[in-house]
Amino acid sequence: MSNTKKIALTGIKPTGVPHIGNYLGAIKPALELADNYDARYFIADYHALNSLKDRDLLKSYTYEVAATWLACGLDPDKVLFYRQSDVPQIFELTTMIMAFTSKGLMNRAHAYKAIVADNLEKEKDPDNGVNMGLFTYPVLMAADILMFDADYVPVGKDQIQHIEIAADIAEAFNSNYKVEALKIPTGIASEETQTITGLDGRKMSKSYNNTISLFLPEKQLRKIIMKIVTNSQEIDEPKDPDSCNVFALYKLFATKEQQEALAERYRAGGLGWGHAKQELFELLNTVVAPMREKYFALMDDKSYIDKVLVEGAQKARDIAQAKIEYLRGVIGF
Ligand code: TRP
Repeated sequence: MSNTKKIALTGIKPTGVPHIGNYLGAIKPALELADNYDARYFIADYHALNSLKDRDLLKSYTYEVAATWLACGLDPDKVLFYRQSDVPQIFELTTMIMAFTSKGLMNRAHAYKAIVADNLEKEKDPDNGVNMGLFTYPVLMAADILMFDADYVPVGKDQIQHIEIAADIAEAFNSNYKVEALKIPTGIASEETQTITGLDGRKMSKSYNNTISLFLPEKQLRKIIMKIVTNSQEIDEPKDPDSCNVFALYKLFATKEQQEALAERYRAGGLGWGHAKQELFELLNTVVAPMREKYFALMDDKSYIDKVLVEGAQKARDIAQAKIEYLRGVIGF
């Protein structure tokens, strides 16, 4: 890892099985970024704990997320890949920066405000269902980022405010000690996340229950693709590819030539929705099949995943420990 490269860091919350929206919007772009950056990608399991208290589920999601990233091509020799809970220094940094984080900053965080607004709308106590982990979520996230001197943080648009909060906290810390102790991070929002269409035509999201899991076995993949919502046009009618949920997904995986060829068949008429869906299934299946095979092999024998995470944890802790010792000095401990 050359230290002249800029550092890119992101966290992945293990709160569900990765779907094709995650793949196109987060995994693929992050892996491309890793070619040009010193990449540090981690599983944000302490962030997941705020909402996920079932130990077996937390464990299996953690494995599934790790296996997914490895199957999609994450090279642990190139990318520092670790589990947040394996790096206790992050929690020490969290406590350090708590003292530089105004409570008002937390009150203004969109995610927290949305929960409060929802509670008020339902005439519940404003803090109903809000634990302190959730309320202070942006502080832990700031520690994740500041611990590893991240220059860039690729995230979905909804997370950009959290990166700004991390930058605010770093500035407050630095200006107090009159030293650039913490690097000011910049968030980069992946545009794509917003435009990946789910089964029902809305943005693909776990909360809408309209996702297509990335590594469904072939039969199930076909079955779910057949459930994509279309209009009620007959086979013979010419169809508009640009207003079609099936085509919207097809486009994301197809070459220009494939896109044009299918669009042509839409416009000509004679292509039924079942045919269009079969085309999408075949294309998607071809793209995911090699990754899916790796994924199931990794999940079958988890020892490789364990090894990668143990080695990643060791490297991450070494970096983090050096930073913590430096920061303790800055503070005057
Ligand atoms: N909050 C992020 C999400 O929900 C996950 C996350 C945790 C993260 N810590 C991070 C992302 C640090 C980037 C950097 O998607």
